[in-house]
Amino acid sequence: MSNQLLEGKKGIIFGALDEQSIAWKVAEKAHEAGAAFTLTNAPIALRMGKINELAASCQSEVIAADATNIEDLENLFRQSMEILGGGKLDFILHSIGMSPNVRKNKAYTGLNYDFLAKTIDISALSFHKLLQTAFTMDALNEWASVLALSYIAAQRAFPGYNDMAEAKATLESIARSFGYHYGKAKKVRINTISQSPTMTTAGSGVSGFDAFIDYAEKMSPLGNASAEDCANYCVVMFSDLTRMITMQNLFHDGGFSQTGVSEAIMELMGEGK
Ligand SMILES: NC(=O)c1ccc[n+]([C@@H]2O[C@H](COP(=O)([O-])OP(=O)(O)OC[C@H]3O[C@@H](n4cnc5c(N)ncnc54)[C@H](O)[C@@H]3O)[C@@H](O)[C@H]2O)c1
Repeated sequence: MSNQLLEGKKGIIFGALDEQSIAWKVAEKAHEAGAAFTLTNAPIALRMGKINELAASCQSEVIAADATNIEDLENLFRQSMEILGGGKLDFILHSIGMSPNVRKNKAYTGLNYDFLAKTIDISALSFHKLLQTAFTMDALNEWASVLALSYIAAQRAFPGYNDMAEAKATLESIARSFGYHYGKAKKVRINTISQSPTMTTAGSGVSGFDAFIDYAEKMSPLGNASAEDCANYCVVMFSDLTRMITMQNLFHDGGFSQTGVSEAIMELMGEGK
């Protein structure tokens, strides 16, 4: 279904790695909705080359940027504004997550602290860095909408999520704090979307992910929200229909976050007796 909710809007989408990436689906949906945007990812991720296929189908250009590097971010904003016609931007998607501790199978009780610093820098501080760069360069129009993707491990213990829980709690706090300052100064709104577990490269790094997706599916009255559902929600959040929503963590999880237990899980427990 095509709509033109984002007609005339310009933005930057971080984090499309392959077709499974949530950011990939957001790019496709934003393009369908009439937006123009640049795509960006870390130089190492661009070497995979996949993103060029997405860029071709969305008539977008790809700009390399390590989201933890301020010079890269300044260059990204400068180039994006030039490529997209010279004016300021209307939306940004931060869809970035990586934990060296998860990658190297470190237990939460045996973390490597250099890795933890990297997890937080890549998965959370990069959000502050891109916001501060945009703020300093005055790169966003009034009522621009900035989103980052989060997970409910920011609020509750999910053992397999490891130190990404700390990163997500920080990420949500940055959305709140920067949302205040950017809202007061420029009427820019900043939110996080807390998404269901979704089968992607980042997602499948979490230990026992298959069983976990199945559990969340059975716990959620509507089932798990797909990457495509998430992309639709992002489009609405980038649009003018949601202008007064800011500083929020928005659950997009089929009802998981509000469910204590479901009949499907109760039945499974009964079978296990
Ligand atoms: N998949 C899930 O279950 C799930 C659930 C809730 C939230 N999220 C969040 O959604 C976001 C997107 O993840 P995804 O599931 O689409 O996986 P993904 O692996 O496709 O995306 C993660 C992206 O982060 C990028 N990245 C890593 N380091 C970077 C750096 N230094 N600079 C710039 N980019 C960098 C990767 O190249 C990749 O494109 C992440 O924040 C993730 O935590 C995912």
